[in-house]
Amino acid sequence: MWLLFYLNMKHLNFIGFILFLFSLTGSLALPTKLQDTDDHFNATQKFINENTAYLTIIAVAQYVQEASFEEVDTLVKVMMDYKNRCLADKTLPECSKIANEDILDMICATEGLPQRHNFSHCCSKADVARRLCFLYNKKANIGFLPPFPTLDPEEKCQAYKNNESFLNLYMYEVARRNPFVFAPVLLTVAARFEEAATTCCEQQEKATCFQAKAAPITQYLKASSSYQGNICGVLMKFEPKVLNSINIATFSKKFPKIGFTDLTSLLEDVSSMYDVCCEGDVVQCIRSQSQVMNHICSKQDFISSKIKECCEKKIPDREDCIININKEDKPEDLSLRAAKFTDSENVCQERDANPDGFFAEFTHEYSRRNRELSIAEFLRVTKVYKDLLEDCCNKESPPDCYHHAEDKFNETTEKSFAMVRQECQRFQALEKDTLQLHYLVKFTKAAPQLSVEELVSLSEEMVEALASCCTLSEEFACVDDLAHLALGELCGVNENRTINTAVDHCCRTDFAFRRPCFEDLEDDTSYALPSVSALISALRADWCQAHSEDLQDKKYRFMVNLVKWMPEITSEERLCLFTKFTAAGEECSRVQDPEACFRPEYSGIKDSNIGDESKVANKKR
Ligand SMILES: *[C@@H]1O[C@H](CO)[C@@H](O)[C@H](O)[C@H]1NC(C)=O
Ligand SMILES: *[C@@H]1O[C@H](CO)[C@@H](O)[C@H](O)[C@H]1NC(C)=O
Ligand SMILES: *[C@@H]1O[C@H](CO)[C@@H](O)[C@H](O)[C@H]1NC(C)=O
Ligand SMILES: *[C@@H]1O[C@H](CO)[C@@H](O)[C@H](O)[C@H]1NC(C)=O
Ligand SMILES: *[C@@H]1O[C@H](CO)[C@@H](O)[C@H](O)[C@H]1NC(C)=O
Repeated sequence: MWLLFYLNMKHLNFIGFILFLFSLTGSLALPTKLQDTDDHFNATQKFINENTAYLTIIAVAQYVQEASFEEVDTLVKVMMDYKNRCLADKTLPECSKIANEDILDMICATEGLPQRHNFSHCCSKADVARRLCFLYNKKANIGFLPPFPTLDPEEKCQAYKNNESFLNLYMYEVARRNPFVFAPVLLTVAARFEEAATTCCEQQEKATCFQAKAAPITQYLKASSSYQGNICGVLMKFEPKVLNSINIATFSKKFPKIGFTDLTSLLEDVSSMYDVCCEGDVVQCIRSQSQVMNHICSKQDFISSKIKECCEKKIPDREDCIININKEDKPEDLSLRAAKFTDSENVCQERDANPDGFFAEFTHEYSRRNRELSIAEFLRVTKVYKDLLEDCCNKESPPDCYHHAEDKFNETTEKSFAMVRQECQRFQALEKDTLQLHYLVKFTKAAPQLSVEELVSLSEEMVEALASCCTLSEEFACVDDLAHLALGELCGVNENRTINTAVDHCCRTDFAFRRPCFEDLEDDTSYALPSVSALISALRADWCQAHSEDLQDKKYRFMVNLVKWMPEITSEERLCLFTKFTAAGEECSRVQDPEACFRPEYSGIKDSNIGDESKVANKKR
């Protein structure tokens, strides 16, 4: 069920959070004169004023994830005072500051805060350098934070009723654990949580009610966070062209009616939106998103016939509605192929006159016509086309050469389809648990340097992607896009991670081809292995303790360690060890003799050429 939700979500993400860098209109409290007459601007400003406390919490908790709730709460009070002062008298000099600058000033001016949480070096910088420093300081990997606090439903309802800070606390806990998600998403999450609390606290079965209501909210948050983190990762690691082509593909697929010129002008707003939202400027992010929506609504006739009702709504419902609207139908007069790119005599001249514009238009024309494909696939086809022209335009008769472009496109697409088909077949064939182990082994072999938590979360994401996509009519696009997101998380948002040479290469080389690149990864052999006896004693320690923790986590940790420490044993041997260790559940005594798996007479593996533990150990050196 969540998959429907998820798919909608994806549109939300794709379209939703784009920004326009209004350098002039950044102040938190007052509208600038320029836009005083604009209804939407006023509505947006009102929305921002009403949500000042939340926005402050979001900004502070995302920038300084270590900060305590009390520290954040203090800053909220400072900000509310400031807002009230400026609303009363907007001519005060401090009231013309840009909101984000204001928040950073506040963070840096709080006594002891920069030292306590180790960002004094950011506060000693100014302007852009300071903003970037805070941005690079954000940590996607939140292992240093405690698990999300869970309250008993009765307690939760007590707190909700009696404590006006309760929702602020919730916002704080969510924001610091999702440092890259855009503010509008977090505001939506908080609104939905409040709704859930209102409903559930009046019911007898509070726990059941919370569970049912929390699942879609969590899913929405996870999906948004993943998508937006990815987009910001692209922005920070690749040329602006790459994000632009993602946006072209995304909008052209969803709104195929839009012409290239209108699209280009819309995407200026969209990419400015991503600039500010990715930077963590919560106020500008809301303004920019609203600006994009204004743009879309002002050109409905050229964009979509389906958004009329959405556009009549007010912020933030309008944004939500547009983002979640279904794909517009394909215009009937759209030819099957864009002849301009394969049949014309002048392809090479046109390319040379304006390469970026030319390939952008190609992406647009291809995406609006082949809407069953994934966003990544549109980018791959564009790359194939680009490479083909490099080749053809040097030939004597280029048209004869690029005339067959479509075959090349289909070749690439066919490869990607085959990959997804295989993944979905595996999904059909295996139990969920076994499937997760499959990905766990695969990811651990490619990147043994990653932590168990990260490996588990990656493989979980793959399994969830397959579970939600493999029965859909748009199976291909769904799997390919979601799997791409999982790899994006691995590759990192605000840092060029160094995991190992091969993985780093896949992350950095070509965004569109990340998936095939990862698919072809060899096992990493650079990883220094601890000894096998270390494995065995660690396992005994792990398994022979009282088990307060989820058995599943233990199993996954075991599998990861097994692959890390004995990468070259066969999958049968691995399975044997795994089964020996886990079949008995938590029975410590069964863990005493794992070496049996390497003795043919015990392992039950026919034709095993493996002797004992030491031989395995030798084999891998
Ligand atoms: C927008 O707000 C300003 C003052 O905040 C007000 O003077 C103006 O009339 C408002 N415009 C609209 C269209 O409501
Ligand atoms: C604080 O930052 C410095 C420099 O980035 C680093 O060396 C140090 O380990 C950090 N301290 C803490 C407690 O994180
Ligand atoms: C309300 O919740 C906050 C955050 O947990 C806590 O610090 C505060 O003491 C609570 N106030 C009351 C009256 O319970
Ligand atoms: C390429 O694939 C599309 C969609 O499967 C198909 O309609 C088209 O005929 C193929 N073109 C060529 C040249 O094979
Ligand atoms: C990552 O590397 C690219 C290419 O070398 C560079 O342009 C970019 O600034 C780096 N990004 C980060 C976050 O360090």
